[in-house]
Amino acid sequence: MKRVLFVCLGNICRSPMAEGIFKELVREKGLSNRFQIDSAGTGAYHAGELPDPRMRSTAASHGLKLTSRARQLRAEDFTTFDLIIAMDRSNFNNIRAEAVKASVAEADFELRMMREFDDSADHEDVPDPYYGGDSSFEDVYQMLKRSCNRLLELV
Ligand code: 4NP
Repeated sequence: MKRVLFVCLGNICRSPMAEGIFKELVREKGLSNRFQIDSAGTGAYHAGELPDPRMRSTAASHGLKLTSRARQLRAEDFTTFDLIIAMDRSNFNNIRAEAVKASVAEADFELRMMREFDDSADHEDVPDPYYGGDSSFEDVYQMLKRSCNRLLELV
């Protein structure tokens, strides 16, 4: 069983989209019983909410239905998940800070940046689309799709 957690700030745009794409890729390959896939936010502002309507509409245009509810990253995530994937550098730093607070040693979890898996990345971050226009949601989808495809080849 491989356990993968995608993390952004609010858990209503980028990480639920990554979760949805990755789950679908895994399902298409018939590997669903070999994966546990989830997402979380470093912040709690949107806890309990469905993904942002703009992200859900972009997902729907690609045949994906996003049904996750936002939740905040918690201490047990560091021991539950084999791989934690941050959407941007700020998420990455906040996740590390949470691990320190939870007294989890750096060697005890694997933390990566999502776009390490994006072969055509021009920047290390998946940019936060929350204050952007509609095209930024589609751009985020494309980055996440490329990254998820590669991630599945590697895990
Ligand atoms: P996410 O986007 O981190 O991709 O879910 C955001 C959603 C909400 C906020 C920031 C980023 N916010 O400030 O409320």
